Amino acid sequence: MTIDNTEGARAQIGVTGLAVMGSNIARNLARHGHTVALHNRSVAKTDALLADYGKDGDFVRTETIEEFVGALQKPRRVLIMVKAGDPTDAVIEELAAAMESGDIIIDGGNALFTDTIRREAALRERGLHFVGAGISGGEEGALNGPSIMPGGPKESYEALGPLLESIAAQVDGTPCCTHIGPDGSGHFVKMVHNGIEYADMQLIGEAYNLFRDALGYDADKIAEVFTEWNSGDLESYLVEITAQVLKQKDAKTGKALVDVIVDAAEQKGTGRWTVKSALDLGVPVTGIAEAVFARALSGSREQRKAAVGLASGRLADKPADAAQFTEDIRQALYASKVVAYAQGFDQIAAGSAEYDWDLHPADLATIWRGGCIIRARFLNRIKDAYDENPKLPSLILAPYFREAIETAIDSWRRVVSTATLLGIPVPAFASSLSYYDALRAERLPAALTQGQRDFFGAHTYERVDVEGKFHTLWSGDRSEVQA
Ligand code: 6PG
Repeated sequence: MTIDNTEGARAQIGVTGLAVMGSNIARNLARHGHTVALHNRSVAKTDALLADYGKDGDFVRTETIEEFVGALQKPRRVLIMVKAGDPTDAVIEELAAAMESGDIIIDGGNALFTDTIRREAALRERGLHFVGAGISGGEEGALNGPSIMPGGPKESYEALGPLLESIAAQVDGTPCCTHIGPDGSGHFVKMVHNGIEYADMQLIGEAYNLFRDALGYDADKIAEVFTEWNSGDLESYLVEITAQVLKQKDAKTGKALVDVIVDAAEQKGTGRWTVKSALDLGVPVTGIAEAVFARALSGSREQRKAAVGLASGRLADKPADAAQFTEDIRQALYASKVVAYAQGFDQIAAGSAEYDWDLHPADLATIWRGGCIIRARFLNRIKDAYDENPKLPSLILAPYFREAIETAIDSWRRVVSTATLLGIPVPAFASSLSYYDALRAERLPAALTQGQRDFFGAHTYERVDVEGKFHTLWSGDRSEVQA
């Protein structure tokens, strides 16, 4: 697309919604030499940004939407960084009224992907390009290099890609940004990223809990373990910040900060969306689901208070060999993490098929290597696995991960059984192990389920030896008929 450089319309991109994420992205763009038009519902925020960080680069201050749109080169590119839901629709409507055919609106918030599908279709009718872009990396990433997952019309990426790639994190010279696919695919992928983030955080939480309650370690000691783990296969942003959070002291009490934080985890909703979508798609994302439910359970504070003191039964002795148990937990964490990613990638494959997106798992592993919250050393391995076989039936079946789980499996079982015998909850470790055992089972109890369904509802079943659907005349002579 050609860029029209008319006088007065000098900004390459506009950012509206200047809360922390929006202003950090705007600063990141400016620092990379792009002229950025700024807009916010209350001008005070725009002025604050200019007063504090105006020196970061070339900004154009605007007050009204018309002024904002008028400051942009064509095709106009506007990044919306407002709250997901109604506020996004309101801003889109205002912008669309002031923009022209061929202009591009980018939603950089955590929008629900079905909203993005709807918005893209509606704006396409009006000749506008709508790009739903997942952006990960939090406030720090937004400023210094996030991972960006833009979906939407391919042709819009020609005008947008270089800009976004310039501000994204870079790993081995490759930007953590690529065109994901049509309409809602970028936000779908970001949603699954967040689901994996939930699972990863829950698994780390369970490991921490085991150190605290099974081995009696204090926060400092646990921080040391995570610091050490961060120099091996588990190296990741989440493991790194876990050590930092655990090391932090509370200024008021002198205790570890983690010990004075209320143990009720909140959630804005992207993990829940992931599980809802997985239910619709029929993909068992058990690790992610357990993580969402674990947050919900932790938040049921009244119920939990009432349940303290319920019988535990006779509990086993603490593990005698702390070093061995530490290694077991490390292995269990790694294997469960592989399961969480495998399930997330399964959901991406199912979403791609359902919505006809033609998503490329290796590309996603590539752009998640840096910038985003789930960035981790082992994403290189995931990328390699999908590069080698883009149609891999499950990440667990890739030779590298297959072997890694083979190495971890005894430890994994020891951790889950020891935790159970000690009365320590490990929902994500345990469900990941059960998922793995179910996946590799030659025969599942689902045959019985089918028999029961046929009994009470004549729902029929398939046989292992003959093609077709069958029904047993349960209330008759119990002979079998072909359905
Ligand atoms: C990211 C984060 C970001 C945010 C989530 C999680 O990728 O940068 O995932 O999107 O922190 O909204 O928030 P909740 O834990 O509240 O759901």
